[in-house]
Amino acid sequence: MIAPFETDLDLPKVFVRHAFACHTQRPPQHPRGSCGAAGAAPLWERMAKKIEAAGVPDIGFSASGCMGFCSAGPLMVVYPEGVWYRPQTEADIDEIFETHLKGGRLVERLAMALTR
Ligand code: FES
Repeated sequence: MIAPFETDLDLPKVFVRHAFACHTQRPPQHPRGSCGAAGAAPLWERMAKKIEAAGVPDIGFSASGCMGFCSAGPLMVVYPEGVWYRPQTEADIDEIFETHLKGGRLVERLAMALTR
């Protein structure tokens, strides 16, 4: 059991929503695969440009290393909701940006889920 985080400090909330995108690149034939080998780079570049162009400082977008589900990539996770997404196209990125990062609503069709 993991304890919930508690503090009396008034911590700064830098971002309302913060997305982390896996930038790991392994060789194409690597047995684990990788988000990079699955075509992540242009998707993350598009997301970064959309966030910058929209001028929304409440949204953070950061590179991460491997998040452990390599064969499911490209993978990104959005906090504080903790939603993992598997975008495949630029249209998917646009939808995650508009609907979740800006709109605060789940993009169900792109979310990793234990059950449907
Ligand atoms: S390489 Fe992206 S989750 Fe492992």
